[in-house]
Amino acid sequence: MSIRFDSESKTFTLYTKNTAYQMQVNQVGHLLHLYYGKKTGTDNLSYQYIPADCGFSPNLYEIRQNRMISVDILPQEYSGANTGDFRLSSLEMVTKEGAYGADLYYRDYKVLPGKYALDGLPALKEAGSRVETLVINMYELITGTTVQLLYGVFEEEDVITRAVRIINDTENTIRIEKVASACLDLPFGNWEMIHFHGRHCMERMTQRVPLTRNIQTVSSKRGCSSHHHNPFVILCNKNTTEDYGPCYGAMLAYSGNHKTDVEVDQMGLTRMVMGIHDTQFSWNLDPDQSFCAPEVIFTYSSEGLTRMSQTYHRILRNNMMNSKFAHAKRPVLINNWEATYFDFNREKILKIAQKAAELGVEMLVLDDGWFGSRNDDNRGLGDWFVNEKKLEGGLNPLITEINKMGMKFGLWIEPEMVNEDSDLYREHPEWALTMPGRKPTMGRNQLVLDMSRKDVIDYLDECFSSILENHNIEYIKWDMNRNMTDVYSHAAPANRQGEIFHRYILGVYDLLNRLTTKFPDVLFEGCAGGGGRFDAGMLQYCPQIWTSDDTDSIERLTIQYGTSFGYPISSMGAHVSTCPNHQTGRTTPFGTRAVVAMSGTFGYELDLNLISEEEKEEVKDQIRRFHMYYDLIQNGTYFRLTDPTENMYFTAWEFVSENKEEALLNMVMTRTRANANPAHFWMKGLDPDAKYELRDVHFAGCSLGVHMEHIYGTPEKGKPVYTGSSLMYAGFSMPLMSGDYPSVQMHFVKVG
Ligand code: GLA
Repeated sequence: MSIRFDSESKTFTLYTKNTAYQMQVNQVGHLLHLYYGKKTGTDNLSYQYIPADCGFSPNLYEIRQNRMISVDILPQEYSGANTGDFRLSSLEMVTKEGAYGADLYYRDYKVLPGKYALDGLPALKEAGSRVETLVINMYELITGTTVQLLYGVFEEEDVITRAVRIINDTENTIRIEKVASACLDLPFGNWEMIHFHGRHCMERMTQRVPLTRNIQTVSSKRGCSSHHHNPFVILCNKNTTEDYGPCYGAMLAYSGNHKTDVEVDQMGLTRMVMGIHDTQFSWNLDPDQSFCAPEVIFTYSSEGLTRMSQTYHRILRNNMMNSKFAHAKRPVLINNWEATYFDFNREKILKIAQKAAELGVEMLVLDDGWFGSRNDDNRGLGDWFVNEKKLEGGLNPLITEINKMGMKFGLWIEPEMVNEDSDLYREHPEWALTMPGRKPTMGRNQLVLDMSRKDVIDYLDECFSSILENHNIEYIKWDMNRNMTDVYSHAAPANRQGEIFHRYILGVYDLLNRLTTKFPDVLFEGCAGGGGRFDAGMLQYCPQIWTSDDTDSIERLTIQYGTSFGYPISSMGAHVSTCPNHQTGRTTPFGTRAVVAMSGTFGYELDLNLISEEEKEEVKDQIRRFHMYYDLIQNGTYFRLTDPTENMYFTAWEFVSENKEEALLNMVMTRTRANANPAHFWMKGLDPDAKYELRDVHFAGCSLGVHMEHIYGTPEKGKPVYTGSSLMYAGFSMPLMSGDYPSVQMHFVKVG
């Protein structure tokens, strides 16, 4: 039993393998948060909270003589508003009389086997794990509604999910103005926050900041989870590192507007509130209706950040992704975008495909520009019929040719968008989000379709279903290339305009759900101008997401590093592109580009006809190595060995197979210097008592120093063998690798 209720102390304790989470119903019926952290085995941790009379912190009317009890001081499980807790609220509602706030009291609970589901929203599922659900019913005194606090306890995985469902069992419509998914109070300790900010071509930059006595916010109001702030934060101790110290991960499984506020209050308590952004949000909840707030996936690690990341990697792959491709092997692809942009025709695509097929690539993805009048990015979105001037005879003859080469075929689409210059817009201008009497703000000269409308979703469903039914398409790249402004639905009444941002995302999930269910054999890749919608919600439908439009391998080191804190390697779209790189102008060795792209889904995004003969041979070898290491990279355990934001000289990372039988070490030199110290690193996750042979080594883009015996061994002694303990505790030094951005990949295999 992972969920315990102690009726004497009225405490709920949720147990996972290594963690405990505790709440208590106090004498007035408020639900206090007592603890989240390393397992303690104690049913009642309330002794930690010493009653205090704190001036200007309000008291409840019924016990007004007792100034020791205030919701403003005690740690709350889900905070109210306008009723005494001046800290961050979790819920704000308004009655028909205009009474505003939230005042929550415990009513009852139930424990259910398995995992709860949320209407229309992605959430972790049972998928063979041992899971229990706790539902705590709270009575909200101002509106009379029921507020269900939902907990999913994944025992073995050390994961606890939280979500909230508001049920309007009154006779009046209630307006919800804010509804967070979770509130986490940490009453003691000084915490830091790690969050992942960025911009287009620079997603998920890592920032670690101390928490101070104010509120810090990580949020997006762009209509999607955004390049700018990922809906994922970590709270950790000042001394927490990759391998030591406590940390809490909080990840919102949601792809729309989000907000995480972290406050340190007057007493030093840290409160984190995470959920849908409350700006431009309001929801009219009619009688007998319910509203679900998206899920937060929590994990706690007492052993540093690496453990926390590994927990997320596993749970997202096993319990979030619906696609069979969560685990099935995915093809090495070539995408024509950076090779041709909009300037292509059938011959050009076939030429690219032919060369790629010869070198071992398994799928061609036709990117933007194949439809309507789409010859540049000013027109055509919405007209999802093939441009026969470019592709004579339609898609089928092209696909047939490509299939004949032994390759699969994939296609780019951007369903949520429309250009003014398109047949769809001319026919249905009211399907775009625009405000009455105002010219809309443009982004890439396109408008956003109103995905809150069922007629739009039905239309898109029909349109893309017909494309998928009538062509042998085995992969879809689902793009979304602007942020949302002028958010106004021509189909909704004035008092429901505050619902549109959220209804938009529900529409996106609905369409994704319909298409991925109807076409389970199609691999869907998410994309939003690169990684502008890289979140746990999208992963439910798309097991991989294009990580960034920046394909420069050196920039990718930082982007993929930041992404790896929350998201699995197998979810990161990564390609080898040409040099000088189109985004940065940087030139890097061909082999280094492959080493970086292999730590992702792996593919190419350039015209392989234009590379040298030597590089063509390299492509064959890269693909051979990718297949050889596929299981280790995609299913192995991932370790960050250096922090690229701190170590300016080299970046190293590693994969270890679950049974510790083999490991793959990757390293890229990011700054080469004369007369430098050797790059030294410590491996992780190996069996300390085992012996590992350094079986394969692949250097790229460098001339090597002379001391190579410890890398290649000798003809007499054979390949070098090291104990796991020496590789982990003493470490390993690389010989001098000179040149710009050289890299190395080393494969260690257990031999005893
Ligand atoms: C976005 C994507 C790119 C490419 C272009 C096409 O920027 O991230 O990979 O598909 O759109 O317009």
